[in-house]
Amino acid sequence: MIRRLVIFGGTGDLTGRYLLPGLAALHETGRLGADFEVVCADRKGRDDEQFRTWAATQLDQHSPDISGDTRQAILTAARYRQADIQDPAQVAETIAGAGPVAVYLALPPALFPTAVRTLHAAHLPAGSRLVLEKPFGEDLAGAETLNRLLADLVPEQAVFRVDHFLAMTTVQNLLGSRLANRVLESLWNSAHIAEVEIIWDETLTLEDRAGYYDSVGALEDMVQNHLLQLLCLVAMEPPITLSERDLRDRKVDVLRSIRTLTDDDIPRRTRRARYSAGVIGDRHVPSYTDEPGVDPQRRTETFTEVHLTIDNWRWAGTNFLLRTGKALAADRKEVAIHFRPVPHMPFGHHGTTAPNVLRFGLDPENLTLTLSAIGAAVDALVPVTMTAPIHPPDLPAYGRLLLDVLLGNPALSIRGDEAEEAWRVVTPIISAWSRDLIPLDDYPAGSPGPAGTRR
Ligand code: BG6
Repeated sequence: MIRRLVIFGGTGDLTGRYLLPGLAALHETGRLGADFEVVCADRKGRDDEQFRTWAATQLDQHSPDISGDTRQAILTAARYRQADIQDPAQVAETIAGAGPVAVYLALPPALFPTAVRTLHAAHLPAGSRLVLEKPFGEDLAGAETLNRLLADLVPEQAVFRVDHFLAMTTVQNLLGSRLANRVLESLWNSAHIAEVEIIWDETLTLEDRAGYYDSVGALEDMVQNHLLQLLCLVAMEPPITLSERDLRDRKVDVLRSIRTLTDDDIPRRTRRARYSAGVIGDRHVPSYTDEPGVDPQRRTETFTEVHLTIDNWRWAGTNFLLRTGKALAADRKEVAIHFRPVPHMPFGHHGTTAPNVLRFGLDPENLTLTLSAIGAAVDALVPVTMTAPIHPPDLPAYGRLLLDVLLGNPALSIRGDEAEEAWRVVTPIISAWSRDLIPLDDYPAGSPGPAGTRR
């Protein structure tokens, strides 16, 4: 296990909100040794006291339930260092120490190529690992360039392209349910499944993230990575093992089988929209374009819906709907498997019923199956829903992800070819939208989405 973590972007939002709390969760569950150290580096030039006050505030805010011991242990393990990721001498001093180091780039993606070049010049100790936040590259060409630079720095298995959805227990439950239950596998194909909905509707709005979000939008923020990863877990062939190679080979097969959308497909198969002012619960939400830092000329979408087709034996004929949006009326975060209707109903004309639906609730976690059952009379069918309890996770997603980095298990991070294939899927959409092949619709904050959005 690597005992030293260096975070560039070390006093940013990601570090305070997720990484320090992730480390705290590892300590709380006995997975972080006493000699662990985390160096938080950036250009700001804080003194030790300012840094400690900041780190303590972050822990109090984002890890309110940890013990006093854990809080103290993380504050003791963490130290600050001023370093510019573009300066090889400063970076070399920051990563210097005994043994390999895990370097976490919690930086804007535009800085990744420079950061990788600097780390190369600064000589990473042998056995070190590198963690990159999403989005991986700004487009397909950017991802290819970054992959080439990374290949010169460390072996592929030492690169952790993060997708925190893969570290969520609820997402891993998709794998557990599929692969440990014979009853599902025989139905897991287009003969039985008409549609798979992969939905991440949020009531959250921009939350002061214009600096990042306004340059990516919903498609690149959510679909290119998280939702396509969910699609892979639903649609992949059963892997031989859950080792990084077996699992990632099967996921990349799925990405390669996704049909490339043409300009003719885009108007029928994609939607984009942006929220205007509205009310969510008792919150008044300003229009996206009135948020500080947003450039209305960019026409950034905050909602998108994409219908994809998988061209392989198992899935030809099933629709995969990927949808996500911000500032919507309600949170809905799930993968819903819609089965086809039964081929014949022997109940007469009263016996019509809705097809079965299996739902993997991702947040909050639950698993439900809707079946039809006999109601008051044999021809009066009613839907019944069975709900299975899901064990609560023992670690938050970033805790699990950091543990995998420190232990050196990249199975639940994205391999270079996966990142490139995911860009291949979204690139024609980005291109068509940039040529305004479809309108940018509007929806009021607090509504279910643009007119016609399916509930
Ligand atoms: C992030 C996106 O990766 O995932 C956010 O950038 C999104 O826009 C978030 O809100 C959803 O995941 P979580 O775990 O924060 O609910």
